[in-house]
Amino acid sequence: MPAPLPFPESLCHRCAAPPKYVRTAASVFIRCPLLPDKYPRQPVLACELYRPTVIETERLKLRELRLDDLDFIAALLGDAEVMRWYPKVYSRDEARGWIERMLARYARDGHALWLAIDKERGEPIGQIGLLAQTLDGVVEPEIGYLVHRPFWRRGYAAEAGAATRDWAFARGHKHVISLIRPENEASQAVARKLGLLPTRHVTHGGLDHVVWRLDR
Ligand SMILES: CC(C)(COP(=O)(O)OP(=O)(O)OC[C@H]1O[C@@H](n2cnc3c(N)ncnc32)[C@H](O)[C@@H]1OP(=O)(O)O)[C@@H](O)C(=O)NCCC(=O)NCCS
Repeated sequence: MPAPLPFPESLCHRCAAPPKYVRTAASVFIRCPLLPDKYPRQPVLACELYRPTVIETERLKLRELRLDDLDFIAALLGDAEVMRWYPKVYSRDEARGWIERMLARYARDGHALWLAIDKERGEPIGQIGLLAQTLDGVVEPEIGYLVHRPFWRRGYAAEAGAATRDWAFARGHKHVISLIRPENEASQAVARKLGLLPTRHVTHGGLDHVVWRLDR
C-alpha cells in the first residue's frame, strides 16, 4: 500500500488535477503550478484559487464555482441541447453573470450549484448542487443538475444528485424538491432515481414546471 498522501484535501487547484508531490530526503511537499517557488510548503491551501471540496462521491468532486471556470460554464450554458428546457442559450457574458449569481448564493445561502469534477481526469463534467429556490413566497431546497452533453448517461447526475440530497438532509432539511419541465424526461428520470415524486404544477421563470419532491 502506498503511503497516504499529505494534504489529501488539497487536490483542488486551478486545473483541479492531483497536485504533484515532491519527495526530499526529509519530507514531502506539494508543487503548486501557480506559485513560483520551487517547493513551497503550503502552496495549495494558500492559493487564492483554492476552493475546498464540498461533496466527494466515488467518481466526482463538487466544489464552489469560480469566475475562472467561465470557459467550461460558457460551453455548458451555450449548448443548445443542454439548454433545451431552459428559456435560452447563454452567451459568454450571460454565463459570467450565472457564475456571479452562484457566488452571491454561496455568500447568502452557503450553497448553490457546484462544479462537478471528474476525479480521475481532473476535468469538469457539469454543475450539480442545492439551490434555495423561492416558490410562492416559500424558500425550498432544490436539487439542480446540468451535465455537459459529452458526459450524459454515465450516471453522473444520479451520483452527484444523491450525494446532494443526502447533504441537504444531513443539514436538517426535511425535504428536497426539483423543478422540472413536464417534457424533460431525462431530468424526471434522475429525480425518480433520487426518490422524488411529482406533486404539483407551478409557473417558474414564466414556464410550466412540475414540483418533484422527497420528504426525509
Ligand atoms: C438531466 C441530466 C442532468 C441527466 O444527466 P445524466 O448524468 O446523463 O443522468 P444519469 O446518467 O445520472 O441518469 C440517471 C437516470 O436517468 C436516466 N436518463 C438519463 N438521460 C435520459 C434520457 N435522455 N431519457 C430517459 N432517461 C434518461 C438514466 O437512464 C438513469 O436511469 P437508470 O439508471 O434507471 O437507467 C442531463 O441530461 C442534462 O444535463 N440535461 C440538460 C440540463 C437539464 O435538463 N437539467 C435538468 C433541469 S430540471
